[in-house]
Amino acid sequence: MVLPTETVYGLAADTRQPRAIAEIFKRKGRPASNPLIVHVSSVDMARSVVRSWPADADRLAGAFWPGPLTLVMDAADDLDPTITAGGPTVAVRRPAHPVMLGVIEALGRPVVAPSANPSGYVSPTTAAHAEEHFADLLILDGGACDIGIESTVLQLEPLRILRPGAIGVEAIEAVLGRGVQTEAGSADERVDASPVVASPGVAGAHYQPRKPTRMVAAAQDLARADFGRVVVIAPRRFAGSCAGRSLQVIELPDDAAGYAAGLYDALRRADQVEGAAEIVVVAPDEDGDALWLAVADRLRRATLAR
Ligand code: TXA
Ligand code: MG
Repeated sequence: MVLPTETVYGLAADTRQPRAIAEIFKRKGRPASNPLIVHVSSVDMARSVVRSWPADADRLAGAFWPGPLTLVMDAADDLDPTITAGGPTVAVRRPAHPVMLGVIEALGRPVVAPSANPSGYVSPTTAAHAEEHFADLLILDGGACDIGIESTVLQLEPLRILRPGAIGVEAIEAVLGRGVQTEAGSADERVDASPVVASPGVAGAHYQPRKPTRMVAAAQDLARADFGRVVVIAPRRFAGSCAGRSLQVIELPDDAAGYAAGLYDALRRADQVEGAAEIVVVAPDEDGDALWLAVADRLRRATLAR
């Protein structure tokens, strides 16, 4: 079943249904080495899937749950090892969407839910996006996702951000009162160097449209570069300067929240533009805002050579 969350739509299964979980891996084409996030409706439910509930988890859940923060902690012994990809830890999050929370509460048990897209492709932020991949499944339409990019994944021991998201390092440090490592970038390099990866889904190329996708630093670069027929994705304030030279320009809002919320829909629409062989993304102007950093991470990975 496909369920909405505030970040992206998830392909969900009961944590106690191994066949449904196996089907998720199969349908997504997801490597068995990439663990799933367990979604809960309460801290008590979160406690039921971990070995112990650290004080840091209590503080972070108090500050950010329900919301786009996933905590990686030691897994309970009785948790299905398929969920954790056989590893010692489990990723847990209490999402903010009422439909997802309602389903978990009605079930009375946590659900696993990776993003509802084929592994490596752009995550779905509307029910229609999910339907492109899983039309034969039950899809609960909860509207367009508010945030539009996946949750921050934070490992508690040692403390480290594995995937940047809407909840940034500064907000986490403010709650914990100490420094947090951010190594999302180096996790990518590790995947090439070694089969041992802290967070497999955080590795390298991901969130990629089917069309070759690249990024240019500014709208002027678009004029200088020798592109064929392309579809351009640009922040609204640059969009005007892109017009005329390309087949089509897809505009995104200039602010971080609007850009993040619209990004995956823009990538998907660009992928469907007929006659354009390539997607060119005009890099947005980012400041140090957490959401912009998360957007930059997704753009970098959407445009990495595969
Ligand atoms: O916002 C989200 O997190 C969405 C919605 C549906 O909740 N879910 C999502 O799931 O993005 P997925 O499976 O597409 O991404 C989960 C990420 C992957 O990068 C995976 O490697 C990482 O979390 N992960 C899961 N369990 C982990 C663990 N035990 N240790 C380290 N990383 C883990
Ligand atoms: Mg995913």
